[in-house]
Amino acid sequence: MKPITLIQLLIEERRAGRINAELSLLIEVVARACKRIAVATGKGALGGVLGEAGTDNVQGEAQKKLDVISNEILLEANAWGGHLAACASEEMEDPQPIPDAYPKGGHLLLFDPLDGSSNIDVNISVGTIFSVLQRPAEHGENVATEEFLQPGSCQVAAGYVVYGPSTELVLTVGHGTHVFTLDREVGSFLLTERDVRIPESTSEFAVNMSNQRHWEAPMQRYIGDLLAGKDGPRERDFNMRWVGSMVADVHRILTRGGIFSYPLDAKTTSKGGKLRLMYEANPMAFIVEQAGGAASTGRQRMLDVAPTALHQRVPVFLGSKDEVETAVRYHQAD
Ligand code: AHG
Repeated sequence: MKPITLIQLLIEERRAGRINAELSLLIEVVARACKRIAVATGKGALGGVLGEAGTDNVQGEAQKKLDVISNEILLEANAWGGHLAACASEEMEDPQPIPDAYPKGGHLLLFDPLDGSSNIDVNISVGTIFSVLQRPAEHGENVATEEFLQPGSCQVAAGYVVYGPSTELVLTVGHGTHVFTLDREVGSFLLTERDVRIPESTSEFAVNMSNQRHWEAPMQRYIGDLLAGKDGPRERDFNMRWVGSMVADVHRILTRGGIFSYPLDAKTTSKGGKLRLMYEANPMAFIVEQAGGAASTGRQRMLDVAPTALHQRVPVFLGSKDEVETAVRYHQAD
């Protein structure tokens, strides 16, 4: 049987009363923008899109040309549909309101336009991550930054698109996690896995081992026990993978299980961690929980973290439920 399209799935979700027309339009618009980003990343050197943009983002990180291009594609696509009140991007200091020329909607969109961008120039998978919130009922005319500071459990949708050998969209609206593959000839996202489930246990972990000496004691003990393999307390060997693009690492874990971690380390403690709560950790936590996995800071369920700043960073552990719970136990025992 021919797989259904993203639009057909969104219609199903509307008929089931799980999303409204505005959220359906929002997801369609984001997916359409991501197709444009897929085309831009796919051109590589031929499109003149590789290399540095010559600017820094709000995090003080050097922007790649494709970071800037992807950010612009998402902003432009979402400006005029009437489905949004404002957007916030990892690449911009403040939220971007919808221009006065266009109608405003009741949703807030947050995105990391091109995650893993240090991998662009070496032709390794990168991705877009997005999170959708509802604008709080009590609000003034202009959207305040505080309106975005809702815990991840308030997300009404989240997703990512991985630009790899194939382009895949992974989406949740809070009723399971679904995977779509882009049919490049037709230009449609087709549903290739409904209600994907992450295996509960795993023998594979993902972490940047070069930071090992900077980790806290519980993380040192946890990874030490994984590395000890059959001879250690875990009594089995573990494999390791690290792409360095969160989207690609999480997509592998969604597909075959595993644990992804970016823990606190001495280099990032003062910032709260490396990865961003609102643009990376929360949307991935929502997707992973909806696929039967778990997501934590090591000490608290990720989706329960009360944000205090738009660009806040957090330690991240997510993936196969049993393994995330094990990692959390090491941190709680400290
Ligand atoms: P960025 O998109 O700013 O390049 O950040 C990438 C993030 C995330 O995608 C990845 O998991 C992590 O940073 C990689 O960190 P290392 O550089 O420590 O490997």
